[in-house]
Amino acid sequence: MVNIALLGYGVVGSGVVELVERYNDRLGRKEINIVSILVRNKSKHRDELYSDLITEDINELLNKGFDILVEVMGGLHPTYEYVESAIKANKNIITANKDLIAELGEPLFLLAKEHGVTLRFEASVAGGIPIIKPLTESLRSGNNIESIKAILNGTTNFILTKMDKEGLEYKEALKIAQELGFAEANPEADVLGYDAARKLAILSSIAYDQKVYWKDIITEGITNIDSKDFKYANSINCKIKLVAQSKRNKDSIYAAVKPVLISNEDKLANVDNEFNSVTVTGDAVGELIFTGKGAGKLPTASAVFGDLIDLIENRTYTVDCFKGNISELDNSISQSCE
Ligand code: NDP
Ligand code: HSE
Repeated sequence: MVNIALLGYGVVGSGVVELVERYNDRLGRKEINIVSILVRNKSKHRDELYSDLITEDINELLNKGFDILVEVMGGLHPTYEYVESAIKANKNIITANKDLIAELGEPLFLLAKEHGVTLRFEASVAGGIPIIKPLTESLRSGNNIESIKAILNGTTNFILTKMDKEGLEYKEALKIAQELGFAEANPEADVLGYDAARKLAILSSIAYDQKVYWKDIITEGITNIDSKDFKYANSINCKIKLVAQSKRNKDSIYAAVKPVLISNEDKLANVDNEFNSVTVTGDAVGELIFTGKGAGKLPTASAVFGDLIDLIENRTYTVDCFKGNISELDNSISQSCE
């Protein structure tokens, strides 16, 4: 029996609970047992499964006996402090929180190392697409990674798709993305490009084995795009996509997130709605493309659940790239993302 506690019972948390229910019988003797779930407002969750395990009190949760903490509540504080307390109590951690990894990954990974516990974060980048694990394990070992070119934010890709293909207004499309559970609690992080920059920073830090800080990435969001831009893009057989790209140059790294015109022939042009896509180029393997749902309840929960099973079955890998000096980004290169 493996005991887990959850921080958060929202879009992703409820997906994790659903997958625990769905797949528990598959795990045989290692059945997963949920012991406590932290929320902000208990009264919202009265009719839900496990409502008797729901608490608003972090100390009550931390005092329950559990092996793994699943952090799906989001934000930096008090999330950092809650995760820190759990690591200090020698708990393994799974998080879907890119803000936490991109901003405070360094102290958390150091603390986890000190306490001999593991911190897994597959769901923090590109939702359901397994990208952290392949990048951290085989790809980085077997290659010099040369570049990453990606669509990393489901909300903005959904908005751009709806504005282009269905003529929806920006605000209307954002509202639907929020209703579908794709957007962050504060959707500014999505539409201004910060969420994609955090995810690009995480991928680039792993790929190039150097800490890339998300605030150093040139970042532009989609808030200035309107119907005229789509008309122009269509007239020249292009799509508008929010592209996150990084490249390792000889002694530096170039990284940017910005809306760009992508030729209809480009594979990224047909990545629509909440789908994400990550193209990784390695010197040995060449180009690899990972595409799938980058946001939403069950796709994201599948990444969290995969981490859970890996941890339960003692499959683990080391992430050391968030420590040390921050890489100097080569922002002088004014190349387009295309
Ligand atoms: P939601 O807003 O749907 O859920 C957040 C949950 O955490 C809620 O249950 C909320 O409680 C609880 N919570 C939030 N703040 C606190 C607090 N201070 N104390 C106690 N409980 C708190 O978020 P999501 O499920 O969408 O996202 C969770 C995490 O997963 C975020 O880090 C997000 O970036 C990440 N993520 C989300 C994806 C998605 O598609 N939604 C995809 C990939 C990653 P209450 O229910 O009472 O409000
Ligand atoms: N808000 C994020 C997005 C959720 O739209 O991509 C997935 O990380």
